[in-house]
Amino acid sequence: MDRLQRFAQQILERKAAGLYRQHPAIDSYQGRLLQNKQGAYLNFSGNDYLGLATEPQLIKALAEGAERFGVGSSGSPLVTGFHYAHRALSDELCDWLGVDDVLLFSSGFAANQVMLQHLTDKTDQLLLDKLCHASLIDAALHADAGYKRFPHQDLAALDMLLQRYPSALVVTEGVFSMDGDSPDLPAVSALCKKNKADLLLDDAHALGVLGAEGRGSWDAQGLQSGDMLCLMANFGKALAGQGAFLAGSATMIDYLRQFARHYIYSTALSPALCWAMKISVELSRSQGWRRDKLNDNIQLFKTLAADAGFTVLPSNTAIQPLIIGDSDKAMLISASLKKQGIWLSAIRPPTVPQGSARLRITLSALHQSDDIRFLVQKLEQLI
Ligand SMILES: Cc1ncc(COP(=O)(O)O)c(C=O)c1O
Repeated sequence: MDRLQRFAQQILERKAAGLYRQHPAIDSYQGRLLQNKQGAYLNFSGNDYLGLATEPQLIKALAEGAERFGVGSSGSPLVTGFHYAHRALSDELCDWLGVDDVLLFSSGFAANQVMLQHLTDKTDQLLLDKLCHASLIDAALHADAGYKRFPHQDLAALDMLLQRYPSALVVTEGVFSMDGDSPDLPAVSALCKKNKADLLLDDAHALGVLGAEGRGSWDAQGLQSGDMLCLMANFGKALAGQGAFLAGSATMIDYLRQFARHYIYSTALSPALCWAMKISVELSRSQGWRRDKLNDNIQLFKTLAADAGFTVLPSNTAIQPLIIGDSDKAMLISASLKKQGIWLSAIRPPTVPQGSARLRITLSALHQSDDIRFLVQKLEQLI
């Protein structure tokens, strides 16, 4: 069997298992509404939690950024790729999060590789929550450090691992991407301090959404930015752009600037996008009404889902997973919803554990109460 035949065989196997993936093209996006050749849909699958992706001020900022600084950065950050817009965005992030410095990356995936691979060496041990994002798992797999995973949210198991590996690096997420729950960060931080371990936090789904001015899960739970060795968050979720950053002390960031290969040998983010992300941070900080509206929508969904007797995971965030179990059944419900004008993707293994295929409902500040009522009504008819 040659290589292409092997690929074709694996695609067939994936289809037979009901796990084949596609990326349907969307022709128009207006926040809560999506449109393609087949029709218009209410969107319950995006990460535009604050509804900023179509915000006119942000669209204007992107155009202004392109006019002032150019579309592309034209180089790696250490050559010609770091522009005024990168500096302005970095300063705004430092002011917002109360950190010394940040380093910008073109994706959260890349930033996570750096966080786990370049802040460790072969004498270190990484301890990851079992449900950490694929980018963190891949980063740990390819790090020189050893790594162990502890059962999701199991602090007793983490404590035991820390006794075995006292100065380990504990890796967790502020809001878990597939379950929508949050760890008890003060407890995790206390365990780290007790064992002289360091905390690495991926706050992709909490930045802009949780905490004062949307600083994130750590702020919402009373931690200081200095309680983490390194914080990662990305611009592709609530901030409605693309790219990511690592944040922390001046020494840690300067060290990464010297040694992080994903940073040094990669084209810097678009300066136009950086300018737009600076405005996105300003809007996230100042427009608390977006977080209030999102929280109202979360509460409404949870109340209606409880009344309907749905098995929704215990999440208080914009990610509300409705567990279906069987992948084919989840796909069938998702397809039926689409026929009724609702875009709600089924999430299947290997993205989630076997037997826990789900409809991962994501809410946005742009949803109206009637959108959520319509969704729950349709789900009640189908489940
Ligand atoms: C928790 C988490 N970390 C990291 C990433 C990767 O970020 P990016 O999409 O910017 O590569 C994602 C999602 O995409 C995520 O959900």
